[in-house]
This record gives sequence, structure tokens and C-alpha cells, in this order.
Amino acid sequence: MRLSQYFLPTLKETPSEAQIVSHRYMLRAGMIRQASAGIYSWLPMGYRVMKKIEQIVREEQNATGAQEVLMPTIQSADLWKQSGRYDDYGKEMLRIEDRHGREMLYGPTNEELITDIFKASVRSYRELPKNLYHIQWKFRDEVRPRFGVMRGREFLMKDAYSFDIDFEGARRSYNKMFVAYLRTFARMGMRAIPMEADSGPIGGDMSHEFQILADTGESEIYCHRDFVEFDVLGSDIDFESDLQPIVDHWTSLYAATDDKHDPARFEAEVPEEKRVVHRGIEVGHIFYFGTKYSDPLGAHVAYSDGEPVAVHMGSYGVGVSRMPGAIIEASHDDAGIIWPESVAPFRVGLINLRSGDAACDAACEDAYAKLLGAGTEVLYDDREERPGPKFAEMDLIGLPWQLIIGPRGLKAGTVELKSRASGETEELSLDSALSRLLG
Ligand SMILES: Nc1ncnc2c1ncn2[C@@H]1O[C@H](COP(=O)(O)OP(=O)(O)O)[C@@H](O)[C@H]1O
Ligand SMILES: [Mg+2]
Repeated sequence: MRLSQYFLPTLKETPSEAQIVSHRYMLRAGMIRQASAGIYSWLPMGYRVMKKIEQIVREEQNATGAQEVLMPTIQSADLWKQSGRYDDYGKEMLRIEDRHGREMLYGPTNEELITDIFKASVRSYRELPKNLYHIQWKFRDEVRPRFGVMRGREFLMKDAYSFDIDFEGARRSYNKMFVAYLRTFARMGMRAIPMEADSGPIGGDMSHEFQILADTGESEIYCHRDFVEFDVLGSDIDFESDLQPIVDHWTSLYAATDDKHDPARFEAEVPEEKRVVHRGIEVGHIFYFGTKYSDPLGAHVAYSDGEPVAVHMGSYGVGVSRMPGAIIEASHDDAGIIWPESVAPFRVGLINLRSGDAACDAACEDAYAKLLGAGTEVLYDDREERPGPKFAEMDLIGLPWQLIIGPRGLKAGTVELKSRASGETEELSLDSALSRLLG
């Protein structure tokens, strides 16, 4: 993509409404634009990042055997009345009346709808387990939408729902999601620590929030410092094998959110120098809730003895549109964003230090064509602009690599290759720079 043609409305000034760094950088880097309180439009740069995040989430869900569906954003109130949540949900639910006076709502979540879909077609325990997920916009009329995409009113969520015949099956389904979440966030270059979270009236130990440590997080978290150094999981996971040892390992040390925090246990289990008390960003939440919805909505299947039983369910959310903000909170410096490669909007920023100069243009066009030809995503700054602002903008948008081509270097037969994360710059020939990038 040529920057001269790209829709990238960057801002020089720091927007005054943005209280945290990710919000400031997302606005300044032209990723999003507020449409109304807690509701955002995603501009090309921001949308590219969100799509990459979405794709990683999707691949890791699929790896577990979960199947993607798409449920509507607008739901009928009927099922919510059956589950009892139409009244319970209160003002957070956006209620809509259609032209026939029917009560509708913009879905804040999908337990009711998915249970109804399941119930309509699954009859026997032999068809279980099943896990269905979608990646869809939600609306929650939050009292305090803030921090940009971090706490929006309209936001994109991946929500998966598992169906099992009994508790043991539900635990296996839960463990698959637990492990998939570890992998999902690791692939985004993030360390998200699973923390014991509120499990509501169901109780038990099957509710975990995945938290990224960050000063600006909205959650208060308590955990053992060693989690920060735990090895990340490889990709060679057999989701049909027993995953309990992995889950046990990742829950072997103390880690709890505010709701679940037990000061006495924390002090007994964690030596003082290992205690981390910090803010965290909740990027995912997995949750077993038994027959809470299958009972009232009548999602029963026949067990081996023919008796109908209510299915055991769990739900598993990832805040897809929160993720770009969370990643920026964890990965930035004073100059701007530092994208991990896996979610970067483009991998390489190609900077022409003197657009209009025949030698610079020719070298840049050559590099651009070769990178594109090799399938690398490049943003080529071909604008006639001074080097200073070009560098500043490239640092702000945070692409992992900068390939800098200018007249002085070309005379000496060199270009510069800069790593955004380390800040290190190397002078080398264009060919070596390209083989480094493509190698
Ligand atoms: N208002 C919001 N804006 C952006 N992302 C959200 C919002 N609410 C929830 N999420 C994301 O969706 C995930 C699943 O949501 P869920 O656990 O149902 O929400 P909550 O913790 O608010 O009950 C959360 O872990 C979070 O990453
Ligand atoms: Mg939650």
C-alpha cells in the first residue's frame, strides 16, 4: 500500500478526551474514530489489526474442534423472558421495539439464542460434545464507557458455547478452551495469565479470566510472580488428549481477581517477594455454568439409558475489539505503538527519504515490488514530505520493520533496516536487507 493513497488520518496533537495511552495512540495513528460514546468506527489501519486478531482467535478455536456460526445482533425478547434474564439484565440491555410492537434487543451475549439453536436439533448424547462459537458485535449500555475500545458500548466479541452430557465432559470442554486461550494470547505476543474469577451461584473452580498486566487495567489482580516467566505453550497440542496437566500447571500458583481474592491464602501461599498486586486488563473469560440455561430453556438430550438430561454448558469470551487497545497498553514507547509481528497492520514500513529523486524512487519501487511479490505486507511512504515527520509517523504507527532508503546511503550502496521494538538500526545493501526481511 502506498501511503500517498492510503486513508490514514493521523493526528499530530494528543486528543484531550483520551485518558490512556492506547486510546491516544489509536486515535493519533488513525485506527479508529468515535461515532458516539463507546461506539467506534474502525478505519483501515485499525481494522487490519482487528482482522488479524480475529483470525488468530478463529484458528485457535477451530484447532479445538469448535465450529464457527454467526448469530444475529438483534434478538427477540422471548427467549430472554424464558431464561429470566430479560428483567435481570437491567439498563445494560438495549431494548428495541419493532414496527409490530414486538420486543427486540441488541444482543449483549448469546447464551439463550445458542441454547435454542442447540435444542432444536440435538437429541442424543451421542452427538455430544459440541462447541459452537461466533465472532459478532455486542451491545452493552455500560454506565461508564471509557478508555476507547477497552470499554465500549458496542464491541466485537468471540463467544463460544460448549454442550456436554455431564460435568466430566464439561470439564474437558473447559480445559480445551483454557489451553486454546493460552495459545491465542501467546500468538499475539501477549502474556495473559489465567486468574480465578467469580463463578457466580454455580461456584466451583471453573471460571477464569485471562488478564494482561497493565497499569491502566480496570481489574485489580493478585498473583504469583513466577507466572510472568512461565513457558508459553507450543503449537503441537493434541486437543483430544488429556489437557488437565497443562491446566493444573497454569493454576498451580496463586492468581486471583479482586472478586476471588483471599488475602490469607495469598499470604500463606506466596512469599512476600513473589507477590504481585497489580492492575490487569481482562482480555478473555471462560466460564462453566452447568444447566443454568439448558434447564429453563429445555435443552435436554437422551442419555444412554434413554432418560432426558439437561446439558452442561460453558461460555468462553474473548474481547476481540478490546485486544488492539490491550496490546498497545502492553507494547508501546514514547514514540508510539510497537506491534508484535503477528498482529501488525503491515510488517514493513518502507520510507523513501527523498521522493522525486530518481535513484531513491527506483530503489524504493524495486524494494516495494520485491516485498509485495514475496507476500509481505508493506506500507510504502512515497509522499513528498521531510524525513522528520516521516520517521515520526512510522514510529507512531509501530510497524515491526522500517526499511529506510535515502540518497546518501544509496551513493554508498546501503539502506537502513530498523527494528521498531529494539530501535536497532543496521546499514546494509538493499539485497541483504531484503533477504533479511524475507529470510
Ligand atoms: N464493554 C466492553 N468493551 C470491550 N470489551 C468488552 C466489554 N465487556 C466485555 N468485553 C470483553 O469481552 C470478554 C467477555 O465478556 P464477559 O466476560 O461476558 O464480560 P464481563 O466480564 O463484563 O461480564 C471480556 O473478557 C472482555 O475482554
Ligand atoms: Mg468477564
